[in-house]
Amino acid sequence: MARRKKIYEGKAKTLFEGPEPGTIVQYFKDDATAFNAEKRDVIEGKGVLNNMLSEYFMNGLTQIGVPNHFIRRLNMREQLVRACEIIPLEIIVRNFAAGSMSKRLGIEEGTALPRPIVEYCYKDDALGDPLVSEEHIAAFGWASQQDMDDILSLALRVNDFLSGVMFGVGIKLVDFKIEIGRVYEGDYQRLIVADEISPDSCRLWDMETGQKLDKDVFRRDLGSLTDAYSEVARRLGVMPKGATPMKPTLIN
Ligand code: TMP
Repeated sequence: MARRKKIYEGKAKTLFEGPEPGTIVQYFKDDATAFNAEKRDVIEGKGVLNNMLSEYFMNGLTQIGVPNHFIRRLNMREQLVRACEIIPLEIIVRNFAAGSMSKRLGIEEGTALPRPIVEYCYKDDALGDPLVSEEHIAAFGWASQQDMDDILSLALRVNDFLSGVMFGVGIKLVDFKIEIGRVYEGDYQRLIVADEISPDSCRLWDMETGQKLDKDVFRRDLGSLTDAYSEVARRLGVMPKGATPMKPTLIN
């Protein structure tokens, strides 16, 4: 089989040239990293779960009219996505205090915020993705004012959608991170949701017990990451009851 051209290898995913111009194959690895890759492990089955969960969320966004890069899932670990220019920002939306915000501002984890708070980090591993303000973004030309308006609107729509979907299965959406890409259509350009939406990039707490069902299980050594992600997938009906990511025949 002809080898595909690798475009980029990140911490959790590898991107290959897609079959048609303007497409990319996104391969979900089993690698888990935290604290800017200071902590790392290979968690068998994580890539399969994130591939399926990201497909589920992106398809849902498409159905409510939120533009995103997802085209179709190709197999257990790969999906075809639309190529785009990634804006070098991590867009974080928080509904409850947790993680770096709790640390930075001394707010107890789990405290409800008076409204969703959107934060921006500059995507640069060497710098550890530092928090930046809209002033930095405008001054250094990472995004225009129009882009920032569109990014805020996309982020809040994703927040409403994801919060509702999670509420429906007894999970609290504490916070999440998305990335946004730019696509060109004739003389126009527009922004779409890109990268992935998965428990790697969200904080998800069980509403009854507060149990963590996201990457904090790995970051904080709280147990099995695949059990946590499988639970999210099971509740959403992404995987039938009893199926595990190690038994692919049960999933399709
Ligand atoms: P934080 O509290 O560590 O800043 O994380 C906020 C949210 O962003 C949380 O849902 C996890 C997610 N996140 C990523 O997806 N990638 C990252 O590199 C970091 C630091 C956080």
